[in-house]
Amino acid sequence: MFNDRRKFIKTAGTGLLASLAIPSFANELISESVIYPSDISFEEDEEKYWKQIRQMFPLSKEKIYLNNGTMGPSPYPVIDTVHKYMRDADENGTYGGWEKTAEKLAEFVGASAEEIALTHNVTEGINIICWGMPLKKGDEVIMTTHEHVGGAAPWLNRAKLHGIVIKTFTPAATAAETLQRINDLINKKTRALAIPHIPCTQGQVMPAKEMCKLARDKGIFSFIDGAHGPGMLHINLHDMGCDFYASCSHKWMLGPKGTGFLYVRKELLDTMQTYSVGGSGLQDWNMNVTPLLFKGYAPDAKRYYYGTQNLALYKGVESAIDFINAIGLDRINKRILGFGKYFQDELLKLEGKIDMLTPTEDISRGSVIGFRVKSTPFGKVSEIAGENKIRIRGVAENGLNSNRASFHIYNNKSEIDKLVEVIKNIA
Ligand SMILES: Cc1ncc(COP(=O)(O)O)c(C=O)c1O
Repeated sequence: MFNDRRKFIKTAGTGLLASLAIPSFANELISESVIYPSDISFEEDEEKYWKQIRQMFPLSKEKIYLNNGTMGPSPYPVIDTVHKYMRDADENGTYGGWEKTAEKLAEFVGASAEEIALTHNVTEGINIICWGMPLKKGDEVIMTTHEHVGGAAPWLNRAKLHGIVIKTFTPAATAAETLQRINDLINKKTRALAIPHIPCTQGQVMPAKEMCKLARDKGIFSFIDGAHGPGMLHINLHDMGCDFYASCSHKWMLGPKGTGFLYVRKELLDTMQTYSVGGSGLQDWNMNVTPLLFKGYAPDAKRYYYGTQNLALYKGVESAIDFINAIGLDRINKRILGFGKYFQDELLKLEGKIDMLTPTEDISRGSVIGFRVKSTPFGKVSEIAGENKIRIRGVAENGLNSNRASFHIYNNKSEIDKLVEVIKNIA
């Protein structure tokens, strides 16, 4: 796919695009000077390698972006792929082909293609599961007090409309204690766990595999909100053993915005009812016979999506997976979890002035770190960081009144040092 790009640039340069007044950013996007992970050597000079990776992102160089947890900027190869396929659709009327993306996603997250439905964001996947799960009044679902609104809203809605009962726990400082808290909430009315892999608040990596085993042992569904898994951590959903996993490509996978996917364990396709159906989601149907024919749903997870998709965006998802694979998830994981630990260690040195909200045990820490500056409201902390051209996120969820920094491969240690300096000054 990367090589296709050069062909595209050539065509674009000699075609209509070249003769139109195109905005300067578009010129930049199709610049011949863009390099690719496969063009550079890690072994030669590690720091140089990461600097070159940084150059593959159009992300502003005037600012320090430490908010990948909200939105992962895409690198040029992904953006170029999206452009290429958008143009192709408009030049040639190209249609269809997005099922291939489900195959590639499945491989990336250790699932089979028949278990992957394309969605547009995490919230859509959560809604599909929440509505499709066979629950009745009084059935209990266990969640955290650290939900993102997209994780909470669908379940709150079902509680309001159908009388399901939501029980919550607060993630603990250790995985073992977190598991204990979940276990303590399970009773004979419990029907499901609906828990984030990594809460948006303080970025703690939850013990997903153990939570899913606990659910399986107790005969209840395990649903994981995986907004922050793929692209940061190695994900193998079959190994994790979850029943359902909703994720997106626009955070840690660095893919196009408005692209996501949902995993439904094969054995549960018929249990997880689909309500919105169309094109790809049905088996035979006929409105010209009596009685009308409707044979039911597609045998795979295609039953959960329908209608025309934006092929260019899903091709961008494939390109994002290629980009990550070209660097290597091992390398990415090591670098960005290293940033998480480094930042946490630096903040821990400000003992007494900072509340460290992310657990310090290695298995529970990723590359999102949550903290509270004791002296200063979180909004002010974000504001001062912004004045210093650093973007972090304020965390208002559940009255946490804290801040969060998240790191990806386009970041470097000196950017983290700058944030630490700013926090020191505030504290
Ligand atoms: C844990 C968590 N769940 C769900 C969401 C919602 O994601 P989306 O905007 O893709 O629906 C987010 C977004 O930040 C999140 O952090």
